[in-house]
Amino acid sequence: MITTYTAIPGIDVITSAFPIPGFGFVPINAYVMHGPEPVLVDTGSVIESEEFLAVLRTVIDPADLRWIWLTHSDFDHIGSLHALLAENPRLRVITTFLGVGVMSLASPIPLDRVHLLNPGERFTAGHRSLTALRPPAFDNPVTTGFHDSESGALFSADCFGALLQAVPERATDLSDDELRQGQVLWATIDSPWLHKVDPAMLAGELDAIRRLDPTMILSSHLPAAPATMLEQLLDSLQSVPAAVPFVGPDQSALEHLLASMTPGVMS
Ligand SMILES: [Fe+2]
Ligand SMILES: [Fe+2]
Repeated sequence: MITTYTAIPGIDVITSAFPIPGFGFVPINAYVMHGPEPVLVDTGSVIESEEFLAVLRTVIDPADLRWIWLTHSDFDHIGSLHALLAENPRLRVITTFLGVGVMSLASPIPLDRVHLLNPGERFTAGHRSLTALRPPAFDNPVTTGFHDSESGALFSADCFGALLQAVPERATDLSDDELRQGQVLWATIDSPWLHKVDPAMLAGELDAIRRLDPTMILSSHLPAAPATMLEQLLDSLQSVPAAVPFVGPDQSALEHLLASMTPGVMS
């Protein structure tokens, strides 16, 4: 089920708790940034596209949207992208050259509907100045997060996500242990390359986030987190290179699962 809440005045969250059998739930967030040039940050998952569009309409008329900020081209971010482009002819997609390229392999974004923006560059949407950045952890080289000058919020894409047993509306409702374990598990799944990273180099990347001094951390896969949680979020991520690497269930586990779902089907 997709629900909405307000992260901070002017920024609404559209969120779904996606089940991962045996592991819990991963929140999938899109964000509506209201203002003279409203921005939709990502467009939900492909499998929930119809419901996403219905819920989006309770937050904003899609005809009023001006920009889609596509953090990256994964299936949990592009769900309603083309439906929205078709519905609103003046809507354009902020992404990278690589984002356009990856999308062209399955469902191309018309080039005249694209605004290319690289990490480090700035984009003005009404009175918001959005500074693009590559977050410390990501699962797709298209990934571009940003810092919003108006709210001070950091939109971190998949970075700072967590796999949770239940998804509360606020990250502050999570216990320290659940947040840390959920964050570490998510990062080992989503960014397994972190195990190959020099911890000192990662510390430098995390320090760059600290220096941004965000008022909120708005991850695609964590409930909205206030600035008071930043050190905790950074600390969990710093521990990932030394964490136990994730290994998914094997074929025998799958056969057990199938046997328990449909007795007699599997030997
Ligand atoms: Fe992703
Ligand atoms: Fe994602």
